[in-house]
Amino acid sequence: MAIELRDVSFAYPNGYVANENLNLNISDGELLAVVGQNGAGKTTAVKLMNGLNKPTNGEVLVDGVSTKEKSCAEISKKVGYVFQNPDDQIFNSTALAEIQYMPKYFKLPEEEIKRRVDKAVELTGIAPYLQMNPLDIPYAIRKFVAIAAIIATEPKYLILDEPTAGQDKRGNEILERIITELQKEGVSIIAITHDMDFVARNFPRIVAMAHKNIIADASAKEIFWNKNVVEEARIKMPQIAQAAYNLNLGGNILFREELTEAVR
Ligand SMILES: Nc1ncnc2c1ncn2[C@@H]1O[C@H](COP(=O)(O)OP(=O)(O)OP(=O)(O)O)[C@@H](O)[C@H]1O
Ligand SMILES: [Mg+2]
Repeated sequence: MAIELRDVSFAYPNGYVANENLNLNISDGELLAVVGQNGAGKTTAVKLMNGLNKPTNGEVLVDGVSTKEKSCAEISKKVGYVFQNPDDQIFNSTALAEIQYMPKYFKLPEEEIKRRVDKAVELTGIAPYLQMNPLDIPYAIRKFVAIAAIIATEPKYLILDEPTAGQDKRGNEILERIITELQKEGVSIIAITHDMDFVARNFPRIVAMAHKNIIADASAKEIFWNKNVVEEARIKMPQIAQAAYNLNLGGNILFREELTEAVR
């Protein structure tokens, strides 16, 4: 099963077309990064996947069912979307209430709610903050409250919209652990990010967007060593790739070990 975008275009109510003729197929358990310059249409595109945006033209299918036939709440049981800005998502007055909200809304049994909340809290490392008002929690950690709230819904497809923005090294390590653990359970993860080192380390498949379109859909090595794509999507090469490029080393180098080997 999969998320499929078939020739999808999307225009906002004011008439602005933000996505044009997108075609994309995301399989179960896949790790996919979406990259591209500000305003390229990344957030608009991923919101099409959970029904927050409904296509103006074309079709979005989640496990074979068109998102036009379902409400966003229904689709969210399968496709979880963590907002780019946590303040657009969080509305409860404690972090704990925020994480419990959707499992309670689904009317799950008490023990199941507790199991899911405990797991989400453990994975995101936010135990010390549970009784706090999210507004009083530092921004980087507030983002993990938003992530925990969606993890607790146990989606089959998890969309993270700029999870690395505002995170330090420790935040990135927590994110990497979340991705690794959930992928082991068969969850597909779709992440938008501007951190290309994070992309190179964690995502085998990359979709590059520019000016409303998908301009490339390929492996990290293919994307980062394609100068046209790098320039058009206005992304940076990851540090190791850039170093290899500056040293005129071929071989589509992306990782430290590959660089060491090539220099030798
Ligand atoms: N509600 C809206 N109404 C009209 N235009 C919008 C709306 N939301 C976004 N846009 C426009 O659609 C385009 C794509 O926006 P989108 O948020 O999808 O880009 P993005 O790739 O996620 O950018 P960023 O990296 O800055 O998050 C932008 O030009 C933006 O101004
Ligand atoms: Mg965005």
